[in-house]
Amino acid sequence: MILLIAFGVLLQEVLVNSQEETPTEVEPIPREPLYNYKNLNLPEEHIPYFLHSNRHIAMACKQDSHCPYKKHLAYLKSCWGYEKSCKSEFRFGYPICNYVDVGWTDSIESAQEIFWRQADFGYAKERLNEMRTLCQPVEAGDSWLACSRYLQHCRATNLYIDLRTAKRNHDRFKEDFFQSGQIGGHCILDVHTLMSEGQCKSPLQSWFAELQAYTPLGFRPIEDGKCDIVIEKPTYLMKLDAGVNMYHHFCDFINLYITQHVNNSFSTDVNIVMWDTEGKIRITILARSTEYRKILNQDELVKALKTVSAFDVQVVDYKYKKLGFLDQLRITHNTDIFVGMHGAGLTHLLFLPDWATVFELYNCEDERCYLDLARLRGIHYVTWQKKNKIFPQDKGHHPTLGEHPKFTNYSFDVEEFMYLVLQVADQVTQHPKWPFKKKRDEL
Ligand SMILES: *[C@@H]1O[C@H](CO)[C@@H](O)[C@H](O)[C@H]1NC(C)=O
Ligand SMILES: *[C@@H]1O[C@H](CO)[C@@H](O)[C@H](O)[C@H]1NC(C)=O
Repeated sequence: MILLIAFGVLLQEVLVNSQEETPTEVEPIPREPLYNYKNLNLPEEHIPYFLHSNRHIAMACKQDSHCPYKKHLAYLKSCWGYEKSCKSEFRFGYPICNYVDVGWTDSIESAQEIFWRQADFGYAKERLNEMRTLCQPVEAGDSWLACSRYLQHCRATNLYIDLRTAKRNHDRFKEDFFQSGQIGGHCILDVHTLMSEGQCKSPLQSWFAELQAYTPLGFRPIEDGKCDIVIEKPTYLMKLDAGVNMYHHFCDFINLYITQHVNNSFSTDVNIVMWDTEGKIRITILARSTEYRKILNQDELVKALKTVSAFDVQVVDYKYKKLGFLDQLRITHNTDIFVGMHGAGLTHLLFLPDWATVFELYNCEDERCYLDLARLRGIHYVTWQKKNKIFPQDKGHHPTLGEHPKFTNYSFDVEEFMYLVLQVADQVTQHPKWPFKKKRDEL
């Protein structure tokens, strides 16, 4: 949306400026560049291909003394191969086969063609040819939904998503995550076509499971004030194969790259949202930037937590100069397990959700302080018990009182730490108010 508006403005400027080209006696005023070329952020050798599909930018470049890509204007016929205007002699490449694998196909030509369609830019061409509008906007500002076959690749504008009551569970890609009305837009939906695209319904092959709930809405989500948050930045929603190793994660990058081509947009000023419907347990570790009560092996503890896929871990330092109070509250309120050393920062437990547990990593022999506060707030509280599994740096140095457990740093036995956190995690997920519980009738 924003880009389109920007292009509109750009074109107007091009017209205005081209009229100004007529010679005048007035000193030429140094003009602003007609396009923010830095935004392209593409390898130099890709620029002619990009300009091929973005003629308005090529035009701006031609008329603009600031354009750094003038030398590419001579090669505007270069194309990737999927563009409608692409002539085969100018395309980026085409596979060469020197033998035919019988059983797959019977001629060199068709082997090359199959490879091009399945593993080269021909793949983007097929997706582009398949694109069909499923929800048709009627007026400016309406929503739009268009997808390739089996809803493998979709593009939406003014997409409405209602996450207030959507239920998460243990699935990474829960199939009935959306109910009717929870995703949709203000447009005319072709229900019949949408419903006929379900043959590839499966987590990593299609968006059918999510989009079968797409609903034509009786309101305009933004204009009618139905949204708490409006995301205007172009956004990719991706289902990741798996980020856990390079082999699987590379598939994700290829998918993203193909999508950039299919959408003809290569800006890196975008959101990339990882689609995941698993109800993760959000753990926040409150770090201290004081001289005492530091967690000496904090990195080790965090690393251990991150091995549990159901945990979403973050470390924060609540210094108001670095992190505004409202942001601190936002983080605390979106935490299920709040972990921290004895210290005033634990007062944040007052703002945890009802099902949360505060884990005072070590109370430094001040046993009641945060236990009482947690009880007043009505949330669970745990603290370290085993003295032989906690390791103070020294005996502590109070400025006047001598040795003191609050005036030193500590490291913690990792295994015991994980044992305690896993117990706390059970406590959280069994809390009657935990929002991602499986429904009883599913048991
Ligand atoms: C997809 O392309 C449109 C049209 O150029 C653009 O407005 C939009 O920002 C692109 N989407 C993404 C996620 O880049
Ligand atoms: C605790 O750690 C901090 C930061 O690393 C350090 O400045 C301080 O001297 C340590 N305290 C003790 C008692 O060793």
